Amino acid sequence: MAKSGIITGLDVGSFSVKTIIAELTAEGEVNVLGTGCVESKGVRKGVVVNIDAASQAIAASIEKAEIMAGTEAGGVIASIGGDHLLGINSKGVIGVTSRNREITETEVERVMESARSVRLPAEREIIHLVPQEYSVDDQDEVKNPVGMTGTRLEAEAHLITGLKTAGDNLMKAVEKAGFFIEDIIAAPYAAAAAVLAGDEKELGAALIDIGGSTTTVMLFVEGAVWHTAVIPVGGMHVTNDIAMGLRLPHIAAEDVKVRYGTAMPELAADTDIIEIPSLGDRPPRTVPKRALAEIIAPRLEEIFRLVQKEIDKAECRELLGAGAVVTGGLAQLNGISDMAEAVLGTMPVRVGHPKGFTGMLDVTQNAGFAVAVGLVIKRLEEEVVPKAPSQRRERASAKSDSGFGRKIGDWFKEFFS
Ligand SMILES: Nc1ncnc2c1ncn2[C@@H]1O[C@H](COP(=O)(O)OP(=O)(O)OP(=O)(O)O)[C@@H](O)[C@H]1O
Ligand SMILES: [Mg+2]
Repeated sequence: MAKSGIITGLDVGSFSVKTIIAELTAEGEVNVLGTGCVESKGVRKGVVVNIDAASQAIAASIEKAEIMAGTEAGGVIASIGGDHLLGINSKGVIGVTSRNREITETEVERVMESARSVRLPAEREIIHLVPQEYSVDDQDEVKNPVGMTGTRLEAEAHLITGLKTAGDNLMKAVEKAGFFIEDIIAAPYAAAAAVLAGDEKELGAALIDIGGSTTTVMLFVEGAVWHTAVIPVGGMHVTNDIAMGLRLPHIAAEDVKVRYGTAMPELAADTDIIEIPSLGDRPPRTVPKRALAEIIAPRLEEIFRLVQKEIDKAECRELLGAGAVVTGGLAQLNGISDMAEAVLGTMPVRVGHPKGFTGMLDVTQNAGFAVAVGLVIKRLEEEVVPKAPSQRRERASAKSDSGFGRKIGDWFKEFFS
């Protein structure tokens, strides 16, 4: 049996499956007890495409974390990623009918429900409904309208949507692995909780999670989510380029990338020579680090140009005062923030390592764990609000940074109806 107070975050990525088992301390902190990271199987572009293979990787990752933690995982909070994720901005409006025209939590919930009622293709479902801001009569830019008096309440909200089948297959794979999902959270929403500081979100920031086969962009403006998009290019494309460019088997190209890779040729000295394996029985060869960087750089440039496009599409470039935070496995590549700054222009860029927890501090060095850590942190945010489903829902709509944490029953109803 899992100990009470145990929270398990499961990030089923295209490159690796990461698990964090953490406990909530009496002081309300997240203490990481165990981690698991295994090669992913049966997942393409962030989506489960082979239930059997994915379930084996999920079981192996969770079991590793359980052994390290010395406790069972219990129910898991799983992330959903992939290029089917799509953010949409929506508006809701209601007339205030309460006594004295005072806005209560009930009105906030009603206006959020109104914002939720957008026409979506049948195969798509809302994963999170995140409030951005409210207006009361002609007073706009209201962060919390509760207690105000007015006749008309409007809400702007960001809807994070995804394909129903992607959630369906993720759930099947987790269940086949012998575990059950307590909640599902969109991967970038979780990553943001682990790597972005509150003041960065307030000032405006771009979260860029570069994984194995996807790059996820989530833009925060004035503390609220403004734009969510997933680009189907990631670190595995860089590895493929190295394999082709240096004629290396994939596994060797991956190793060369992690050990010697640099994001920009200017950052690698011509005189810095590395030894790489050869195909077949041939002896190892030497190449300058700069030659490796010249293979890596164009793909990264492509990735950040696509990110730039998303920022332009959202028309909020000048609202991103805190700049960009790059996270995910590929964020560990030497010089990645320099490359991002070079492409994104005047924006300051930093690498985002997961934080907000104690124990297993080596995880803080691994940006690839951002989503898994964020899942646990998001659950903690929910733990401090009332647990009854209706209350959770109210609080989730009222808080500017909350998604709809749902118990499995609610999630089933919503995702599979
Ligand atoms: N130290 C490192 N230096 C450079 N690249 C790294 C390092 N560690 C991991 N990577 C790269 O990060 C990528 C995997 O990142 P991550 O684990 O975040 O992906 P994922 O979550 O499984 O994939 P996705 O989110 O696209 O579904 C791989 O391409 C891997 O080569
Ligand atoms: Mg990922």
